[in-house]
Parts: sequence; C-alpha cells; structure tokens
Amino acid sequence: MSTVRGEFSSRFGFIMAAAGSAVGLGNIWGFPTQTASNGGAAFVLVYLVLAFCLAYPALMAELVIGRHGQANAVSSLQKLSGNAFNKRFAFGVGFGGIICAGLILSFYAIVAGWMFSATLEPIAKLTSLSDTAQWLNSQSLARDLIFTALFVVLTISIISKGVENGIEKWSKRLMPALLGILFLLIAYVLMQEGASEGLKAYLVPDFSSILNPELLVSALGQAFFSLSLGTSVMIIYGSYISRQENLVSLGAYVTLIDVFIAFVAGLLIIPAMYVAQAQGVEIFGPSGQLLSEDTLVFQVLPALFESMGEVGLFVGFAFFALMSIAALTSSISMLEAPVSYAVERFALSRLQATWVIGGLISLVSFTIIFNFSSLFGFVVSLTTQFGQPLIGMFCCIFVGWIWHRNGLLTEIKSGYPDAEHSVFWKIWPWYIKFVCPLAIALVFIHTL
Ligand code: PFF
Repeated sequence: MSTVRGEFSSRFGFIMAAAGSAVGLGNIWGFPTQTASNGGAAFVLVYLVLAFCLAYPALMAELVIGRHGQANAVSSLQKLSGNAFNKRFAFGVGFGGIICAGLILSFYAIVAGWMFSATLEPIAKLTSLSDTAQWLNSQSLARDLIFTALFVVLTISIISKGVENGIEKWSKRLMPALLGILFLLIAYVLMQEGASEGLKAYLVPDFSSILNPELLVSALGQAFFSLSLGTSVMIIYGSYISRQENLVSLGAYVTLIDVFIAFVAGLLIIPAMYVAQAQGVEIFGPSGQLLSEDTLVFQVLPALFESMGEVGLFVGFAFFALMSIAALTSSISMLEAPVSYAVERFALSRLQATWVIGGLISLVSFTIIFNFSSLFGFVVSLTTQFGQPLIGMFCCIFVGWIWHRNGLLTEIKSGYPDAEHSVFWKIWPWYIKFVCPLAIALVFIHTL
C-alpha cells in the first residue's frame, strides 16, 4: 500500500474519521429540528428506512470507488472510465463533488463559528467579562468574520498534518469526547421537568404524515447530507482504507453510528425544548408548530440555559462545545476532498495545498457573510438540494452501469473473500443500478 498517499492505520481509525465526517451539525441540529417540524416520530421512522435502504447503498458506492482508485475523487472515477466520454463524465462528477464539498464548508464554517463563539460566551460570563460575553452573544460582522476564520484555521491545521497524524488522530480524540458530552447532557436534560412530554413527542409517531412527499424529500435530503454523500468525501476516505478491510461492514458501521447519533441527539434536543417550555419559554410558533432551526438553537436553548442560573453556564458550554466538535470532525473531511485533489493533480505539498484551498474557502465564506441574506440560503440549497443528490446519483450510475460487475466484485472481495455468497452481493448491485438512481431522481424532480 502506498505510504506516500497516507492511509488509515486501523479500522477504528477509519470508522472514527468517516463517522466524524458523517456526524455533524446535520445530526445534532438538523435531524432533531427536521423531526420537530415534520411530525415527530413519523419522520424518524422514514429517516431510518431511507438511511439504510438508500443512503447506505450509495455510501458503499462511493467507498468502493475510492478504495479501487486509491486516488482523489477525479482520478478514482476516471480509472473506471474506458472511453473519452466517460472520462469527461468522471471529471465532471469528481470535480463537481469537490466543489460541492468546498462550498458546503464555506457555509458550514460560518455556522461553526457561531457555535465557537457560543461556547466561549459562558466562559466569558463565568470570568466576569460581561462586555466580551455581550459581544460574543450579539450578531456582528466582526464576530462572524473572526470566528469563521478561526474555525477554518483550526480545520487547516488538522488537515495539513495528513491522514494518520491529522484526520485519524483528531477523529479518534474528538468523537469519544462528543459521545461523552452528548450522554452527559441527555442524562441531565431527562431529569428535568417537562422532559417526558418531549420524549413522547419524539417517540410516538403520527402515522398520518408518513407518506407525505415533503417528509420523504426532507428525510432523504437529511440522510444524504448526514452521510456526507455526493461530495467526493467518502470517495477520498475510501481511498485511504486498506485492501485488507471488509468495506461492507465498515460502511455499515459508519451508517449505524451516524443514524444512532442522530437518534440520540433527538433524545437531547426535543426533550430540551419541552423542558424549556416548562420553564416558561415559548416553543410553539404562531401556527402551532414546534419552533425549529435557528430559533431553537439560538433562542429556545439559550433561554433554557439562562433559566437554570449558574448551572446553565456549564450546560450551555457543554452543549456548544458538543456542536463545535461535531462541526470540526465534519469540516476536516470537507477540506480533505479538494486538498487531496490539489496534492495529487498539481504536485503541491500538503501544507501548501491546505493553506491555498483553506484561504480560498475563507474568501467564499467572507463573501457569504458580507451578503448573508442573498447568499447563505442560496449556497445551502445549491449544494444540499441539487449538488449532493445529483452527484450521489451519478456515483451510483458509475458503479451500477459503467463499472464491470466482475471488477466490482473483485474489489468488494478484497478484505471480504466470501462476499460473492453474501446477502449484500445478492441485493446491492441491483439496488445501486436501478433503485438508488431512480429513487434519487424522483426526489430530485420533486425538489425542482
Ligand atoms: N455530514 C455532516 C453533517 O451531518 O453535519 C455534513 C457534511 C460533511 C456534509 C461532509 C458534506 C460533507 F462533505
């Protein structure tokens, strides 16, 4: 195995890194708020089905492309393409994914910057720096620019260290920390008054909304975003997996962890909303729906922390530290996608490539900050509603229609010699050929 490119040193290392990419603000913020605004447990149920039946097969497609190619997304896809037309198609899909990852990072870094400043605010309050606390808490251009830049620099400093000493090392540290904080917070919130009502809203489904097309579209979009699909990230992470590893089970672990953490985050956020209500905080909007998205994280929860007095400062700190860690392990994967391409395509050193690309992404983030109302929502929908599903679908098409079935089987068999006789091999090739592209296309057309 090439040591020049870097490789995950262990299966645990890969699982932490890939789960770190998958588990992010999408799980801890996106999933619970989508659940809150889409009929509670009905959404959870649809999400679970779509995550395992559509997102897992698509994740496998990306991982297997990467491990076969042992290169960045463009070269890995081109390796599967026999003729000039397919090579150009491969370039479009691979490069499109890389751009998508960079653009997602440009808005993700802004949100992560808000999480960073919200983490520092309780510290400022505890140390009686009330002016600083006030500044950290109020929306301003300076605050957004500084914290976005800080977050990008932190991401750069991890990625510049490479696969094993950067991505793997930090994922192995940060993911257990994330789990620890998450469980502590859940234990605390579930002991508060009002939490059981929240648990009921989260866990008892309203089946009448289960076939609502809007709910299906939101759940599939959420599953794709959550597993970092359609961004070339899982192709590049797949390329760092050793040939001795069983890809089928690695992909399943990553999906299980991702879904598990989204589900567990719901056990924190939704009960926390009802605890906030029991403390007198408004949690329903004018038309009776649960407040969600930015209102939840930046108004409802802070109001809850405030109502807890001194303890609230510690709980608030832990909550926003959790969000910041989740954001960091995801953003390192987003930066790795363009960096690996630049290093292999232009023979730049990893350090140069990381700073140049990190700098470019910061410029895009700053442009979004200066034109927030017109650009932020636009970049979010462009990447998550259009880019990710389309590129994810094209990766399925590559594996299902362009790659020869025998070649595909040989790749899956490496690390899993019995693959040919497995249930996975009986179902997945058909799934990836017909079901996934069709289902994604249907959802995409509905979005249009
Ligand atoms: N999966 C991350 C989340 O759930 O927050 C977001 C993400 C990471 C999207 C990496 C795309 C990506 F390439």
